Amino acid sequence: MAKALAPLPLEKHPQLLVGTETADDAGVYKIAEDTALVQTIDLITPIVDDAFLFGQIAAANSLSDIYAMGGRPLTAMNIICFPRLSLDISVLTEILQGGLEKVHEAGAVLMGGHTVEDAELKYGLAVTGTVHPQKIITNKGAQLGDVLILTKPLGTGIISTAQKAGLAETEALEAAARQMVALNNQAAQAMGECQAHACTDITGFGLLGHAVEMARGCGFSLRLFYEQIPFLPKVKNYAASGLVPGGAYCNEGHFGSEIFWGEKIPSLEKIILFDPQTSGGLLIALPKEQSQKLLELLLKKGVRDATLIGEVIPREKYSIIVA
Ligand code: CO
Ligand code: CO
Ligand code: CO
Repeated sequence: MAKALAPLPLEKHPQLLVGTETADDAGVYKIAEDTALVQTIDLITPIVDDAFLFGQIAAANSLSDIYAMGGRPLTAMNIICFPRLSLDISVLTEILQGGLEKVHEAGAVLMGGHTVEDAELKYGLAVTGTVHPQKIITNKGAQLGDVLILTKPLGTGIISTAQKAGLAETEALEAAARQMVALNNQAAQAMGECQAHACTDITGFGLLGHAVEMARGCGFSLRLFYEQIPFLPKVKNYAASGLVPGGAYCNEGHFGSEIFWGEKIPSLEKIILFDPQTSGGLLIALPKEQSQKLLELLLKKGVRDATLIGEVIPREKYSIIVA
């Protein structure tokens, strides 16, 4: 997307507060002194076998970018690519039921949608939310000395690859599903009660790709504490068996030159940090003094896997140091 957009002029408008310039999670447009619209769209191919569960996951994934900007979702529209000839329409009904449940859980309203016929099933939402113009949290505001908190464990891409190979264990599948259906609403609320400087959700670029964008945005480097990074069950085993999605290698190709690896990181495990996530957690940069408060709030709100995984350090040659 960034490559395709590059030849086009950058969209500029006095009310456009966040556009395409920083690869941020959603666009933000000011409509009043105290209100800005946050808008995003995302759709994905099935990542689980169950249609209702897929609908829930796709919707949670689409809603996430609103939360990553510090916003609150108001309205959603279904966007569907459906293979009418090969799939029964009842499958689509189940998907939409799952999506609707998540829209309601988010406190938003479904107001329509659009379907096109396509050989491959895809589903997601276009979501509109609001945020106070002074409370927008972009991916570029991290400050020196901030710590980084990640709110969900990693590995959904690897577990889905293991599932497609028929090798995923129930424990791993259930843990991955639980994380993917979980909205980032509680995490965003907790973040809103602290003075977060930057936030992004971890999706297709994997932890390291999104971390590189956060580092580029603030001009500092990020140090990640490898031992602290939370993983879903069995992910390391699957990665060691080569059950790694192609997207992880794409991400490594794109962002690998910006990563410095400490000696202790097992080379087999490096690829996990590039694993593309579906409906991943928030990566939040905030002052060190507030990290305990945020972690406690997260725990209180049921975000149990949130972990402090790194810090913002003076700019080094590499954007990210994994040590
Ligand atoms: Co995002
Ligand atoms: Co997105
Ligand atoms: Co239409």
